[in-house]
Amino acid sequence: MIEKTLLKRSNSSQLKAPYVFHIDSVSISFGKIRALKNVNLTVNPGEILFITGKSGAGKSTLLNLLAEDIKPKEGKCIRSRSKDLFVAQVFQDLKLMENKSCEENLWVSYDPKIYKNKNEFHHDMAELVRVLNFSDNLKTKIKDANGGLKQKVAMVRALLAKPQVLLADEPTAALDKESAIKLFEVLNFYNVRKNLTIIWASHNRDLVKQFPGKIVHLDAGNLVYSGHACFI
Ligand SMILES: Nc1ncnc2c1ncn2[C@@H]1O[C@H](COP(=O)(O)OP(=O)(O)OP(=O)(O)O)[C@@H](O)[C@H]1O
Ligand SMILES: [Mg+2]
Repeated sequence: MIEKTLLKRSNSSQLKAPYVFHIDSVSISFGKIRALKNVNLTVNPGEILFITGKSGAGKSTLLNLLAEDIKPKEGKCIRSRSKDLFVAQVFQDLKLMENKSCEENLWVSYDPKIYKNKNEFHHDMAELVRVLNFSDNLKTKIKDANGGLKQKVAMVRALLAKPQVLLADEPTAALDKESAIKLFEVLNFYNVRKNLTIIWASHNRDLVKQFPGKIVHLDAGNLVYSGHACFI
């Protein structure tokens, strides 16, 4: 069912640039703290990339760099200038509207330029909400929602904006294992069917190692591993 819905809208926005992001010798400091140290990384269209590392390793800093929320003073971070490139971000602190319901938060992504009408948006929303199993919680206010529900809302809100690139910071931190796997299945579906490039930061390497994709491992701001999960 979800497959049928999403297939209708596939392939209009496949990226043509050779890369989505290219990071060249970037170091980022906050005062005396060196959050990233001489990092080099290229992200290609359609890649699934997990950024792993302990707390404080620099995962969020790297995502914020890609989101252009941080400008490097040392090195450069180049983003594809493809006019189709739309980057959605799921922040570690989610940035939801606390006094609004889950559904009201999802409607933030409604854009008449990318949906034929509100029915089409509502249809897509209902599909994602059903697959992620929170149809019964749509009227719950965010301030009354548990951490897992909030994470699902933030993720669905990002997907409903139909991005070409998704930056997700610890998207499963408050989810049980079953929900985390389900969320990955949804993202994987978007990756396979719509060429969504996914960059997912997680301190839980054991979890993300189970998923197909590439791992970039950070240790105290150093990129110490880049490759397939099976070798780490
Ligand atoms: N805005 C900031 N001001 C000062 N220090 C910062 C800032 N952002 C990050 N840092 C510091 O930079 C380092 C890397 O932080 P970052 O948030 O990127 O780590 P992380 O891997 O995302 O950690 P976590 O798993 O806890 O989310 C840490 O020492 C952190 O305290
Ligand atoms: Mg972080």
